[in-house]
Amino acid sequence: MTAPVALVTGAADGIGWATARAFADAGYRVVLADLRAEAAAARARDLGPEHIGVGCNVTVEADVVAMLEQVRRDCGRLDAVVNNAGIGSPHLPTTDQRLDEFERVLHTHLSGTFLVSREARKLMAAQGGAMVNISSIAGLGGLPRRNAYGAAKAGIAAMTRSLACEWAAAGIRVNAVAPGYVETALVQKLAADGSIDAAKLRRRIPMGRLGRPEEIAAVILFLCSPAASYVTGAILCVDGGWMAFADAGDAASEA
Ligand SMILES: NC(=O)c1ccc[n+]([C@@H]2O[C@H](COP(=O)([O-])OP(=O)(O)OC[C@H]3O[C@@H](n4cnc5c(N)ncnc54)[C@H](O)[C@@H]3O)[C@@H](O)[C@H]2O)c1
Repeated sequence: MTAPVALVTGAADGIGWATARAFADAGYRVVLADLRAEAAAARARDLGPEHIGVGCNVTVEADVVAMLEQVRRDCGRLDAVVNNAGIGSPHLPTTDQRLDEFERVLHTHLSGTFLVSREARKLMAAQGGAMVNISSIAGLGGLPRRNAYGAAKAGIAAMTRSLACEWAAAGIRVNAVAPGYVETALVQKLAADGSIDAAKLRRRIPMGRLGRPEEIAAVILFLCSPAASYVTGAILCVDGGWMAFADAGDAASEA
């Protein structure tokens, strides 16, 4: 039997790279797609000769069509898709936010998820499969000064639900994870430029710490596994309790 195939976008770093490793460990052949073609190829080599690194900007239709054509040609099947590629947005008062930056963030998350899902669906048609999109706590609650990012992640949650309903009969489950703050390059950059205060964040998280990329990857893998065979259209928070907390003051405390 041929190994199942998983496509992970934004796989050269952070949550995407952890997810690619998790799928490879679970016996999948992994297609690692990233804007940074060289980095994706190097990560694929790290995983082993059966894995494939592809340069792809998920916002460029021709790139996405060509990537899925390559998956069809080289793998002949597609069982799992993780729409992970994403970028942060500058944390600025709304009156200082620029339209081009607003559009860039929405385009990356929404057009990217739409295009990859649309093209992947054509290849998954035969045997069904599972997709996982990456939303965020930023799409579920209000984070001041982050209009574009929050709107993009709320949009991904909405698209997850609509695709789940449309493709359920075809045996394709579509879910999302909504991570809290996870220690990746994206978050390190926000900490370095002063956009976030890591110590303050830890106090706001009931579990008292940021997440690790591997902890998001494990849930993504679960959602693509037979153990989640009756789960579709779900937005699953993986946030150390962030969204559960609604009290005043710090959330992290001694037991
Ligand atoms: N880190 C967090 O705390 C956190 C929290 C919630 C959600 N997320 C989401 O998780 C996803 C991954 O975040 P991360 O923290 O691992 O980020 P990261 O910056 O560490 O990695 C993102 C990867 O996506 C790639 N990428 C960016 N734009 C792309 C494009 N247009 N086409 C293809 N690849 C592209 C980058 O090259 C990079 O390798 C993003 O969607 C992000 O919004 C992250």
